[in-house]
Amino acid sequence: MPTPGTDVTLCTVDELPEGGMRHIEHMGYDLLLVNLDGKFYALDDACTVSWAMLSEGTLDRGSNAVVCSQCKSAFDLVTGKPKSGPAKFPLNVYEAHVVGDDVIVNFTY
Ligand code: FES
Repeated sequence: MPTPGTDVTLCTVDELPEGGMRHIEHMGYDLLLVNLDGKFYALDDACTVSWAMLSEGTLDRGSNAVVCSQCKSAFDLVTGKPKSGPAKFPLNVYEAHVVGDDVIVNFTY
């Protein structure tokens, strides 16, 4: 059974328009928040290859992935797993949902 986490409001819906992504630091963690087609995703922002931040990369709508600006690794937004490129290890993913105007991420410390 998964460990129950804590719901944390990371931003408002207005602060993350459709097709956008942003870096949010929370409790010392670098997080990537994405809004793709009105669905919100939360993953680790620090990549698993070098020192790049994935929030400085691009979104690939066709494959529902974020692509690293440096090594071009593509990570699945739902599973965090690398789909292509040199990356071998997955990103942590967090459950994200909207309540009212707030984007809430369930975070396990
Ligand atoms: S340099 Fe980190 S995933 Fe590309």
